[in-house]
Amino acid sequence: MKDILQELHDRRENARLGGGQRRIDAQHAKGKLTARERVELLLDEDSFEEYDTFKAHRCTEFGMEENRPYGDGVITGWGTINGRMVYVFSQDFTVLGGSVSETHAQKICKIMDMAVQNGAPVIGLNDSGGARIQEGVDALAGYAEIFQRNIMASGVVPQISVIMGPCAGGAVYSPAITDFIFMVKDSSYMFVTGPDVVKTVTNEVVTAEELGGASTHTKKSSVADGAFENDVEALAEVRRLVDFLPLNNRDKAPVRPFFDDVDRIETSLDTLIPENPNTPYDMKELIVKLADEGDFYEIQEDFAKNMITGFVRLEGQTVGVVANQPMVLAGCLDIDSSRKAARFVRFCDAFEIPVLTLVDVPGFLPGTSQEYGGVIKHGAKLLFAYGEATVPKVTVITRKAYGGAYDVMASKHLRGDVNYAWPTAEIAVMGAKGAVEIIHRADLGDAEKIAAHTTEYEDRFANPFVAAERGFIDEVIQPKSTRKRVARAFAMLRNKKLENPWKKHDNIPL
Ligand code: HXC
Repeated sequence: MKDILQELHDRRENARLGGGQRRIDAQHAKGKLTARERVELLLDEDSFEEYDTFKAHRCTEFGMEENRPYGDGVITGWGTINGRMVYVFSQDFTVLGGSVSETHAQKICKIMDMAVQNGAPVIGLNDSGGARIQEGVDALAGYAEIFQRNIMASGVVPQISVIMGPCAGGAVYSPAITDFIFMVKDSSYMFVTGPDVVKTVTNEVVTAEELGGASTHTKKSSVADGAFENDVEALAEVRRLVDFLPLNNRDKAPVRPFFDDVDRIETSLDTLIPENPNTPYDMKELIVKLADEGDFYEIQEDFAKNMITGFVRLEGQTVGVVANQPMVLAGCLDIDSSRKAARFVRFCDAFEIPVLTLVDVPGFLPGTSQEYGGVIKHGAKLLFAYGEATVPKVTVITRKAYGGAYDVMASKHLRGDVNYAWPTAEIAVMGAKGAVEIIHRADLGDAEKIAAHTTEYEDRFANPFVAAERGFIDEVIQPKSTRKRVARAFAMLRNKKLENPWKKHDNIPL
């Protein structure tokens, strides 16, 4: 018996060494943690239950029968984050570059199946050279099995990908299907084909960082939702995100203890809106002042900054926030901001997270670049996302809500449940200047008349009261009491039941 136990111990030690001390040292020298160190940091202490520790590939091509490391380049299992279950896979770059073989894929698929059956998120820590070249089509088949599970799990359990090394080819498409992608600055890359292939095919000379580094994907492509300084910070932030999310689509998001008075009055909000309607202000100030303990988890902070998306808690309950940012492009809707917000609203709706919308939007950004880029279709994504969402929706118009953008931003007409406006709200087809120039074109040469028309238009429309008369605004509220009003609205909506008509699936304008 003692011998058998010793053998188990030795085999485990062997598995723990992955690709060997030399490769572990090389991983550390690049500022990267090993696959096991990452799992330990991600999960609660001693909570990790590993499966398939001894699984090995069965490839015999290219002398691979001589190289059959335990675990086959990925560590899989489940554990807890602040006591709540999550499934994890962590690719081990020290073993054949973390490349995905048939068996490597089987390990990932096994925990994904468990995650869907048992209703818990999947977190993938990606550090892989892609499909294992020696295995050919078996490796490709393995990838496709993972993709299929990613698709089936979408909207059932949250899926989070952390890119912690090079990810090429198939290695980027599995994360691309998941709900959130985070990257580590300077040590992670994502591309369909690397710089060498790019040069051969297009003659373009580009570095790995420029082509697929964290900055590229968080600022330009929007493939990634956030970038962090190092492995430790990235894993800590994933823990923080998981705390906001439900475990699955049948579960409610966790209610956290809160020590912030829900009736807190924020007198500073009464002066947040500047005297001049064209002067910007920081919408994040409002978000932070509304949130329990000022805690805001922003998603896609560096992309389409004219729109803010992220999670807060109100009375300990998770709420998704979508807000126009007047500091950037005057808070206009455009292609990027519409896509960003639409995806976020759909995530919230899939996982029963209520949505708070804060509106200060002068309209859609005009111009050929927007039209040629398909702003009609992309803007429609946000319209569609809000209109199909059945979760509680509370909207606060702080200042401008002009034109189509008024309709889009969770208006009453798109089944907004509670629609508030501040007294500073201006709800109209367009701003006074533009409106007067069109409806009083004949008076354009007469400055006095134009000034009079402008004042008349402002008096009539630059306020929330016309919409309130119609019932499109449920109540005009004092800015300082917004936290209380919004929290009470969500409390009132806690048992909301609304269902869309049966359909196989919708046809959102992709
Ligand atoms: C087998 C691989 C591998 C792979 C790396 N290795 N990638 N083994 N299959 N795909 C091995 C290397 O042989 C090496 O083994 C170890 O991993 C570390 O690799 P290095 O090249 O020394 O490391 P580094 O210089 O850091 O470069 C990392 C890398 C590079 C950028 C990932 O290895 C690379 O370009 N690999 C190939 C990427 C690729 O084209 N993959 C196929 C994608 S196609 P030793 O023994 O020396 O430690 C694909 C199809 C799916 O994924 C498509 C589905 C839609």
